[in-house]
Amino acid sequence: MPSSPVLSYSIPQRLIHWLMAGLLVFNLLFAEAMEELSEAVEEGQTPTPNMIASANIHAYVGIAVLCLAVIRLLLRLTHGAPDAPADEPPLFRLAGKIAHATFYLLFFVMPAAGIAAYYFGIGTAGEIHAGPMKLLMWILIVAHVGAVLVHQFVWKTPVAQRMTKG
Ligand code: HEM
Ligand code: HEM
Repeated sequence: MPSSPVLSYSIPQRLIHWLMAGLLVFNLLFAEAMEELSEAVEEGQTPTPNMIASANIHAYVGIAVLCLAVIRLLLRLTHGAPDAPADEPPLFRLAGKIAHATFYLLFFVMPAAGIAAYYFGIGTAGEIHAGPMKLLMWILIVAHVGAVLVHQFVWKTPVAQRMTKG
């Protein structure tokens, strides 16, 4: 961690935040190709080239998330992140810290579980990936966006600009 406190996220951190948000939402919404493919394989059917192509898009988008997560973590460790606003209630500060840490954990374990299922045929990894991990990711995203809105419109602490114009 750097010694002087940072007031905003760096431009690369902001770019990666929005790029990853887009890729994550894409994969959360467009995963049915993977579902169809794994069902077809389980039922002993031969998947069509179209099915495989669509499933590969999900896989490559997810692998991109994993690669960006490595860069993002390194940036966070070197550049750091701004502190929560001083007047934020301690419980919310803690909730924010836990939520951000859980996001980072999921950025790694979610694609890793997908890779284990898709390329190594580990069924349990696929079930965890498409079950609890998917659910947790959605809960975090909804809570995260909710928290940003509360900051902006209820507490009137402009945290949103840390991730936009800086
Ligand atoms: C963080 C990025 C990723 C997200 C957000 C994500 C999201 C999802 C979601 C939401 C489903 C379940 C669809 C449903 O049941 O409604 C799913 C299924 C699946 N995903 Fe991903 N995925 C990601 C990365 C990957 C990667 C990198 C791979 C493989 C290279 C992968 C392989 C799979 C497979 C094989 C399934 C089907 C699992 C099963 O039904 O057993 N995913 N993914
Ligand atoms: C959809 C997927 C999203 C994910 C996975 C995500 C994840 C994160 C994470 C992990 C952080 C902590 C900073 C870091 O170290 O990178 C963060 C910060 C932030 N995010 Fe998101 N985010 C998402 C979407 C959004 C959206 C839609 C908004 C706008 C409403 C938003 C606004 C912000 C803001 C303003 C911060 C800075 C908060 C602060 O530290 O004061 N994010 N996000």
